[in-house]
Amino acid sequence: MEWFAWDFDHPAYFQIYADKAADAASEGPALAARLDLPPGSVVLDLPCGWGRLHPHLQAQGLEVVGGDLSRLNLRRHAAEHPAPLTRLDLRALPFRGACADGVFCAYTSWGYFATEAENLRQLTEFARVLRPGGVLLLDLAGRNFLKEAVAEVEGHWLVFPEEGYEERATWSPDGRRIRTERRCQGEAFRHDIWIPTNTEVRAALADAGFGLVTAFGGLDGRPWTAAAERWIYRAIRK
Ligand SMILES: C[S@@+](CC[C@H](N)C(=O)[O-])C[C@H]1O[C@@H](n2cnc3c(N)ncnc32)[C@H](O)[C@@H]1O
Repeated sequence: MEWFAWDFDHPAYFQIYADKAADAASEGPALAARLDLPPGSVVLDLPCGWGRLHPHLQAQGLEVVGGDLSRLNLRRHAAEHPAPLTRLDLRALPFRGACADGVFCAYTSWGYFATEAENLRQLTEFARVLRPGGVLLLDLAGRNFLKEAVAEVEGHWLVFPEEGYEERATWSPDGRRIRTERRCQGEAFRHDIWIPTNTEVRAALADAGFGLVTAFGGLDGRPWTAAAERWIYRAIRK
């Protein structure tokens, strides 16, 4: 089984990432502002997770459709934020071409696949479902910031007693992927995510069919810097 089919589809995921529910109050409005589409626009929230950002997209008058691989996340989304939802794989979207004005890809939800071809496939699928001139918002972890943050703790198990889990982060030998092992609820998990450079992100966006790219270095829309914690790309479908 691919790691993401296990890690995100387990109740432990909601325990480990419990603080992301509260973070949505600041992340949601800020990311919706960076997406910057007029009311009535059709936006695909991919992947939508449990829908924590959904109310903030809806508050902008956007017509939001969510998609995710995890049945558990989709069930929670349906219960807490009813919306049109589809179970899907990001490599083969079940939508017709040019059906959307926007694709909203929040919180480091790219780079999960083992090969470059599959990760590019996710972006070409985003491009396919967007109309020409449509907008992709791609919200990623800043690689340099993450490198520094992990440097001091790499390879060490960190214990979070209140949250009830422990974790250990290591970079792959080639330095391209971050692997985060976690133990929670008696089970073992292992995220394995490609963390691209800015050059790699831009090259992949261009290869997938995106033209003009604006990059931000934070939720408040400040300009991109190499050191920023978040790299947020707003790319226009050619
Ligand atoms: C870090 S969460 C982000 C969810 C949401 N964007 C948010 O900000 O809360 C990543 C999500 O990607 C979903 N996912 C992982 N691999 C996927 C795949 N191959 N196809 C579709 N969804 C996938 C997971 O189930 C999980 O809900």
